[in-house]
Amino acid sequence: MSKLLSLTRAARLVGVNRVVLQKKIQGGELDAHDGMVSVDGLLACYPDAELEDTVEIERLSRIKEQAFGKRIFERALPDAEVLAARVTELSKTLDRSQSQLKNLNDFLGKLLDRLDETECDAKSRQMMNDLKLWIRHEAESAMEPGLSNLLAIKDNMLRVMAAHVTVLPSGHDFLLEGQDTLLEAAMGAGIPLNYGCSGGNCGLCKARVISGQVKKTRHHDYVLSDAEKSQGCILLCSNTAVSDVTIEAAVAGSVQDIPYQQITAAVKSMELLTPDMLLLHLQTPRTQRLRFLAGQSVTLRVGQAFSAELPIASCPCDDRNVLFHVRRQNGHLFSDYVFDRLKSHEPVEMEGPQGEFILHEKSPRALYFFAFDGGFAPIKSVIEHAMSLNAESIHLHWIASTAEDIYMPNVVRAWADALDNFHYAEHIAGFDLRAMTDRRKESLERQLDIIAGEEAGLMQGDVYLAGPEAARVIAERFFLKLGLPRTRVASSLIT
Ligand code: FES
Repeated sequence: MSKLLSLTRAARLVGVNRVVLQKKIQGGELDAHDGMVSVDGLLACYPDAELEDTVEIERLSRIKEQAFGKRIFERALPDAEVLAARVTELSKTLDRSQSQLKNLNDFLGKLLDRLDETECDAKSRQMMNDLKLWIRHEAESAMEPGLSNLLAIKDNMLRVMAAHVTVLPSGHDFLLEGQDTLLEAAMGAGIPLNYGCSGGNCGLCKARVISGQVKKTRHHDYVLSDAEKSQGCILLCSNTAVSDVTIEAAVAGSVQDIPYQQITAAVKSMELLTPDMLLLHLQTPRTQRLRFLAGQSVTLRVGQAFSAELPIASCPCDDRNVLFHVRRQNGHLFSDYVFDRLKSHEPVEMEGPQGEFILHEKSPRALYFFAFDGGFAPIKSVIEHAMSLNAESIHLHWIASTAEDIYMPNVVRAWADALDNFHYAEHIAGFDLRAMTDRRKESLERQLDIIAGEEAGLMQGDVYLAGPEAARVIAERFFLKLGLPRTRVASSLIT
């Protein structure tokens, strides 16, 4: 029987994302049983799979890793003991397979001898010889390293480098690579598991191992009771997966599942993207991470309580790093303080998260994002999250008052150059999107009408809008009038 692979592993082997395989399953091109596909079925869909080397996959992974600010090269290889355990597991499998092969060969030899010894007439002897020839030919063909074998070899390599993790009851799954803990790998894959400190202190990342082998790679101060240990409980932030594992853990499914938090972060860096837009990079303490869903906002407080609610412009998978795009607003106390007085390492209070502008993860539809000026901030967070979930098709239209309001052109153009599933277009309105008049409204609607006409799949997709209220409200009304259901238009206000 052909070897079975999880969808995540199969997608990795043939160099496509999971959604593509899911569509093939829905379309009847690929058979699946309990979320698994067979090597033969996969090869029938991707006959050139053995030619696909890992270069392209690694290139895309690197782009994503760089987008999320991770240091991939420091974490490429698993821990030596984990590597040894995985190789040992594979060696056992190899040993079993070799002994089965030897037994089969012995059996084949005995069968051929038996056929030779069988007494029969000339006609039957001829049939017997034909049968022996056929058996030898089939046995030799079976030994040839065909496509299945090559794919299996590649899968074995992947098993050494990465463990497959399934999360119940949500059904999420992901690959754990390098020296990542289970928590880090889940976050990198965009799965919002429950956690608090990431450092083994709070116990919030407690989960139960249902099957497979894990290994503690970090000390934790949090004490698991004997009863918890006997039930298979572990801390996800302190353990890695040695073999493929299934764990039982809570996954945040909505904003209501995320607790309200108050964290004092520190300024890691500030970078002027344009004279009026500043990239503020905050870092949370090692023992306290901010839990949020991509697209949400927090209230920042600096100096003597100058505050503003700002969308987070980074992905929850970005570890302790939390990014914001701060617009210069003369006379606004928070903006003035950030632009003129905020210093590196200065503490910044974060409270939240707030907001419901988040990705509809279960939607199979293509994603259409419309960022108006600084509305790019929450959209960037959601797009990075969608990328970590391997969304099939992402379209971004950045509509800006002036060319300068496209303040991170290199980031989006690099995504468009590198990722086949990301499509980008920028549009300059030529007027201030925060101050709409009737004429400007007509002009913006015309622009949206042109885009809607060019985007063939937009009416079947999910639309996400973010930006200053005046432009965002016009866009929202435009898409609803066009016939998009309310449930497929999400919007976020940026001041
Ligand atoms: S113990 Fe706090 S997140 Fe793991």
